[in-house]
Amino acid sequence: MRNYVQASWDEPLLNELSRPGRVGNSVPSDPTISSRFKDPQSLIPQSMRRDSLNLPELSELQVLRHFNRLSQMNFSVELGMYPLGSCTMKYNPKVSEMIASSDAMKGAHPLQPAGTVQGILSIFYDLERALCEITGMHRFSLSTAAGAQGELAGVLMIRKYLAEHGGGARDEILVPDSAHGTNPASAAMAGFKVVKVPSGANGQVKASKVQELSSERTAGMMFTVPNTLGLFEGEVKEVCDAVHAAGGLMYYDGANMNALLGRARPGDMGFDVVHLNLHKTFATPHGGGGPGAGPVGVTRKLADYLPVPVVAKGKTGYSLDYGLRRSIGPLKGFVGNSAVLLRAYIYIRLLGASGLKDVSSMAVLAANYLWKSLDPEAFPASHEAGLFRKHEAVVSVKGELPGSAMTVAKAILDLGMHSPTVYFPLIVHEALMIEPTESEPEEMLDEYAEALNSIYAKIKDGTLGPVPKNTSVGKVDEVKASHPLTLRVHW
Ligand SMILES: Cc1ncc(COP(=O)(O)O)c(C=O)c1O
Repeated sequence: MRNYVQASWDEPLLNELSRPGRVGNSVPSDPTISSRFKDPQSLIPQSMRRDSLNLPELSELQVLRHFNRLSQMNFSVELGMYPLGSCTMKYNPKVSEMIASSDAMKGAHPLQPAGTVQGILSIFYDLERALCEITGMHRFSLSTAAGAQGELAGVLMIRKYLAEHGGGARDEILVPDSAHGTNPASAAMAGFKVVKVPSGANGQVKASKVQELSSERTAGMMFTVPNTLGLFEGEVKEVCDAVHAAGGLMYYDGANMNALLGRARPGDMGFDVVHLNLHKTFATPHGGGGPGAGPVGVTRKLADYLPVPVVAKGKTGYSLDYGLRRSIGPLKGFVGNSAVLLRAYIYIRLLGASGLKDVSSMAVLAANYLWKSLDPEAFPASHEAGLFRKHEAVVSVKGELPGSAMTVAKAILDLGMHSPTVYFPLIVHEALMIEPTESEPEEMLDEYAEALNSIYAKIKDGTLGPVPKNTSVGKVDEVKASHPLTLRVHW
């Protein structure tokens, strides 16, 4: 196995490297110039000078080395495999990055008159049409800044629609126990009571259970397909029928749409509202690491409820339309994170319909290949070993000791690879959730499986020792890191 171990030095703070009087600039020696610049501070008016900033004093080379070293200590998908299931960081093609950071994009301002930004507005309009085609929805609002915000928008729309159609007393949302935590959180934030739907023994939701839990209080159900176990739900149509029959609406958590691209559409399955995580399906940055996007789409009957603005095409060209009659209102400024939306558009246009189909084929193939390369004794499948997975696979770490998933996750860092997601979904004991994505070559998948298998073998024969050993920071106390939380602001 190749060694991908990263830099693991202990980098001091700039303030610790600082020495009084050391500077990173130099004044020109030409006397005609230096007479003017001898004392650069003299150019700054007295009233604007500060003398108590306590800034580090360093040479240019020290600063350069400091930031280069920090960059080497960081892990990214551009450095190694990053199979963090569910919130996957996909490789973002460089061509999208280049276009999104072009001067034209950087120079545009959201308050510019629409007539001066027709090009980018037409791109957003076309992006909306593409998302409608991909999902089978009627309209999308692009503005929501992450999957979770798309979810909130979706359940707020359900609430408002029902209130205006005699369903104001409906106060319950059904959410399967395998759902991402943002589902119950969004439903609760929108004022609903969350009703948990237990998954069946095979990891899938039973329509009969949904029917049993539905009533005149049901506003809708949030359903993730394929679910967070990587399994396509076997009774999607029956579940949608059961909720609709009870008078509720169906919400599709589209975070896992990368498994279905070009093959199946939530609109055709019976869903009323959809959000997409652009980072995961269309290779854009993730909201958690900076600006993100989680557009929300709806069927025709809900189109007027979308968050504003939406992009409109009229006789005089494209514009941002704030005038939807029944809108739940704005959730984010202007059209949202425009450079993220642009990247998604480029990705869709570069691949085209057949390329997007290849994405889902490759993502599913890679997930199943990696899963099947794991030692089934060490990493038993969470559910139904006989069923193929979609874009990700969830296994348990066979371990008598609690914490064995965390041990595996820390040990793989020592080999210079990122760990899978651990302890999610919550219904799986000692869970590892592995999503390689469509971009990894076969050899990398082999190496990753070999790494996991060899770590387990060492746990089993007691030779692993404390992990991680080769990282800049050793094993952190994760509870202490977030609880108690001590935040300090330095000015
Ligand atoms: C299944 C599922 N739903 C919802 C979300 C929330 O999306 P975001 O992290 O963009 O808010 C995620 C995270 O990627 C997810 O995996």
